Amino acid sequence: MKRHASRRTFLTDMAAGAVVLPAALTGAHGGMPGFRPSPGDTDPSPPSGRAAPPLPADAPASRDEAWWEMVRAQFSFTEERVPMNAANLCPSPRSVAARVEELTRDIDRDCSFNNRAKFSGLTEQSRAGVAAQLGVSADEIAIVRNTSESNNTINNGVDLRAGDEVVLWDQNHPTNNVAWDVRAARFGITVKRVSVPRRPASAQELIDPFVAALTDRTRVLSLTHVSNVSGIRLPVRELVEAARPRGIHVHLDGAQSWGALDVDLRALGCDSYSASAHKWYMGPKEAGVLYVREDRIPEVWPNIVAPGWGNDADPDVVGARKFESLGQRDDACLAAVGTAAEFHTAIGGAETEARMSALATQLKEGLAGLGMTLVTPMEAELSGGVCIIEVPGDRSTALRRLYEEHGIAGAGTGGLRLCPHVYNTREHVARAVDGVKALRGVILG
Ligand SMILES: Cc1ncc(COP(=O)(O)O)c(C=O)c1O
Repeated sequence: MKRHASRRTFLTDMAAGAVVLPAALTGAHGGMPGFRPSPGDTDPSPPSGRAAPPLPADAPASRDEAWWEMVRAQFSFTEERVPMNAANLCPSPRSVAARVEELTRDIDRDCSFNNRAKFSGLTEQSRAGVAAQLGVSADEIAIVRNTSESNNTINNGVDLRAGDEVVLWDQNHPTNNVAWDVRAARFGITVKRVSVPRRPASAQELIDPFVAALTDRTRVLSLTHVSNVSGIRLPVRELVEAARPRGIHVHLDGAQSWGALDVDLRALGCDSYSASAHKWYMGPKEAGVLYVREDRIPEVWPNIVAPGWGNDADPDVVGARKFESLGQRDDACLAAVGTAAEFHTAIGGAETEARMSALATQLKEGLAGLGMTLVTPMEAELSGGVCIIEVPGDRSTALRRLYEEHGIAGAGTGGLRLCPHVYNTREHVARAVDGVKALRGVILG
């Protein structure tokens, strides 16, 4: 049975009255100018044997629109329901979903230790692929369940005492924010929150408030690379340069940067970094990473100790693997992280960032041109792929109608949030702008 309706079955269902086709998609009410099926649209979930060809290993040097159409064709979503909410959850390409399915079936056919022995090697391949892309060693990478888990490993695991200070960005996600308050309630540490200008004019305006908050008691500076509530990107390298000479542990939540920006952890210089594979990395669901720099690993306590750890306080496992000690894991998922890594390598880290940034710029310029107020900076160096506009009007109606009438799935975080990624086409972005234009009265109130 197909898991997604193809365009053909979608239209058949519609004829049978099972689906209400969005007006904008039918051409009614002015329709969707320039709408044309992409390769993925005409065959979004092909029967086996007719899947879109995988991306060629020898990608063309110039990534033209035909190349990006080929990337889009790796995904099974339909043109009627276009995902533009990468900050929350991304679709994974068929290769990743197929790998999870194939390996899950394999385990169900034969769940013996003998058959499952191969999974430790597959997990190591995933770790090596991810580490190479992030510019660090495999021993510094733990493959965990998500950013929430990684952030909590850091805020539970860094050795802190009463009176120590932790400095946070007030835009941090609850797992890197409220979680520190829970720690403070237990151990008497002090949590200081830093605000930045609502509309920063330069990177310096994002540096100064943090530097001013650091004191001799500061032990941790816990940041977010790209905010999910404003889209602001922090100048991490400069902040690390200010904190490191003081011995401060800089933790970076990369939920909105891994898989979107071409992240080089050595160049950023942070002590730890957390991220989810099911967001911009387009990997399997409920997988994530925790990077801890080699020299910091012995200082950070694990959250969970399970079989495989060893028989005393010193772990038998090497490096950051101690942070993924969790009993029985979903081995198929861990192995499929490696498939996601291959997908990213086929596209290229710098190429992904450039495309994502071009789509985000197209979107922000289009929205600003409609007179919408951007929450997210227009400048690429102060932002990532998270694009937010203010909604003084009815946010939930705007989101519902954008989805139902224009086929664009966004979010209501921080305003109206749209996050285009490499599986989106320029037409998707133009359609999102047209949708906002049509919903102007609802959005502005
Ligand atoms: C900045 C940030 N950190 C952490 C998370 C939590 O991610 P997950 O639910 O995958 O753990 C999110 C989710 O949106 C986020 O935006």
